[in-house]
Amino acid sequence: MLRRLHHEQPDSFAFTPANLEWAKKQIAKYPEGRQASAIIPLLWRAQEQEGWLTRPAIEYVADMLGMPYIRALEVATFYFMFQLQPVGSVAHVQVCGTTSCMICGAEDLIAVCKEKIAPKPHQLSADGRFSWEEVECLGACANAPMAQIGKDFYEDLTAESFAAILDAFARGEVPRPGPQNGRFAAEPKGGPTTLIIPPEERQAANASVALALAKGDTIARITGEEEASPAAAAEGEAPELMSAPPAEGADDLKKIKGIGPKLEKMLNDLGVYLYRQIAAWTPAHAAWIDSRLEGFKGRVARDEWVAQARTLAEGGKTEFSERVERGEVPSSE
Ligand code: FES
Repeated sequence: MLRRLHHEQPDSFAFTPANLEWAKKQIAKYPEGRQASAIIPLLWRAQEQEGWLTRPAIEYVADMLGMPYIRALEVATFYFMFQLQPVGSVAHVQVCGTTSCMICGAEDLIAVCKEKIAPKPHQLSADGRFSWEEVECLGACANAPMAQIGKDFYEDLTAESFAAILDAFARGEVPRPGPQNGRFAAEPKGGPTTLIIPPEERQAANASVALALAKGDTIARITGEEEASPAAAAEGEAPELMSAPPAEGADDLKKIKGIGPKLEKMLNDLGVYLYRQIAAWTPAHAAWIDSRLEGFKGRVARDEWVAQARTLAEGGKTEFSERVERGEVPSSE
């Protein structure tokens, strides 16, 4: 496919102050004389800010990096992830058309795009709010057919569910990403056949979906303020915290698989002492906690703390908590 700059270009481009600060930090990661190595992250941030990569943006980034414009242009035109023409002001929809998705109905999804957005890929919808394209495999083949909308994946789609998702975006909503057919993640469609977790112990959302819900930036443009403000939605929502352990004493959080003495101390320092506190975490709460567990990020979802805490909070036991009680888990001491 021929990748050229769009025939209509804005007059200028500038990073927002926060994005400029972010860009300078990226450049500082490379040794003197090697600043050009920062080209891809800077072009990407320019696209995240504007939705697409304009000629002034490419030249602005080239100037920042001391590169000839043609070198920056070569990068921008080589990688398909860079959008060289305006995209929908609300969302750009990328439908996977590769083998698994094609077999499972990608053509039906493309027909929905043609009907609801525009007859051709990279054409703006009549109101300028949406655009679409067919892309190569996005690595979610077990959940085919799928589409990436903004930053997130919508999986296990049908023409009907996909059309409903596009309608929801058009109404200003951001539908929940991830599998759309009731699947938790990529387990067999008929339900898991191994590593079976009882439904009542399952998390409400898989880790990717939980993070997407916590960040809430599926179709948001990035101004850089997201990093500047730790309390921003990007870090979720604070759960119930306690200023001190309750009079009757704290629960032994080390009975939750994945929590050792160090993590227990970090959780206590944050104000988490009881199973019932963890059992009540929503995905946004879990993301808030996760972002504060330096060196242990991702553990909340990976080890399914919430499901374990629910069992323990109700007075039940898990296989792991029984092992801790029998003294068979040295790391819990
Ligand atoms: S074939 Fe569509 S995600 Fe891989």
